[in-house]
Amino acid sequence: MTAESPSVSGSQPQPVLSPLTSAAIFLVVTIAPGGEEKTREVLADLRSLERAFGFGVPEAALSCVAGIGSDAWDRLFDHPRPIGLHPFRPLKGSRHSAVATPGDLLLHLRATRLDLCFGLATEIMNRLRGAVILEDEVQGFKYLDARDLLGFVDGTENPVGTAAREAVLIGEEDPGHAGGSYVIVQKYLHDLDAWNALPVEAQEQIIGRTKATNLELDEAASHAKLNTVLGPDGEEQKILRDNMPFGSPGRGEFGTYFIGYARTPEVTERMLRHMFLGTPDATHDRILDFSTAVTGTLFYAPSADFLDHLPALPTSDAKAGVLAAD
Ligand code: HEM
Repeated sequence: MTAESPSVSGSQPQPVLSPLTSAAIFLVVTIAPGGEEKTREVLADLRSLERAFGFGVPEAALSCVAGIGSDAWDRLFDHPRPIGLHPFRPLKGSRHSAVATPGDLLLHLRATRLDLCFGLATEIMNRLRGAVILEDEVQGFKYLDARDLLGFVDGTENPVGTAAREAVLIGEEDPGHAGGSYVIVQKYLHDLDAWNALPVEAQEQIIGRTKATNLELDEAASHAKLNTVLGPDGEEQKILRDNMPFGSPGRGEFGTYFIGYARTPEVTERMLRHMFLGTPDATHDRILDFSTAVTGTLFYAPSADFLDHLPALPTSDAKAGVLAAD
């Protein structure tokens, strides 16, 4: 893509491009009726809360990105919608489904220390008390040398530097939302007993990389190949993933929290269609035979500048219209 860098046009992004960290908390909430004002206050204060908790420990790289769900946009802002914002589109494949689950607000907290994510998340949720309903909360951790719980190094093919900015940040195609980004999350639960019963070579064919050495394999039906998507110009279209393992050994729960940022949701949606509906090379992504998507939501993460200068609340007439349509 050739659009100018959003920072050139003056819109500072939220910290969507922050480096991979060893700890993360993902919070997804819906906004209770009447909770709009409190939610807006937290959005407006987010950067200063992040500074308060992170200032003394810059090496911990504490960051928090907020994403807004499609239904919440018209309740929160009297402002044109980002062109790509819509509810997550569920998919029903012959074997596996990508479910759509509720979410008005995503908070993606990252740091090299879980305690900092925890402190900031606690303060944010205290401020949101009474205004929101918790839909999902996951605490993720870095596992070994950046592996998922399937045992493979996860994140290798993420774009970096300018390529990451261009893949992830909206530019001139939606100038009113320059510096924003679309984000799709899905919580996957793994059947690790079944996965671990597979020979390592079979696992490697499914993922498309070697397990110990993380080298790429030429496997047309692999997860990596199904997620290599090309644009009209033949160029690879990238997203920025920050998947995190999570789980509870005591309860036998093991998962991957998938999070993918992109400049347009279409790229991630194409990847999901390949995984769940298949391609000429594969009926579906076999990673799904061992991993069940139990959530799925699409959000829009506005620029930091947008949060600093929030547009007005919709007028009561507009809100009444939204409520009547519910
Ligand atoms: C690659 C794991 C879900 C998109 C990979 C790799 C692993 C992995 C181990 C190879 C190394 C790398 O480049 O990161 C997982 C697990 C998932 C999951 C455990 C959940 C159960 C998804 C989903 C998407 C996705 C839902 C997109 C909607 C990608 C992409 C690549 C990739 C774009 C890089 C492909 C390439 O250019 O080689 N994933 N993934 N993944 N995954 Fe996933």
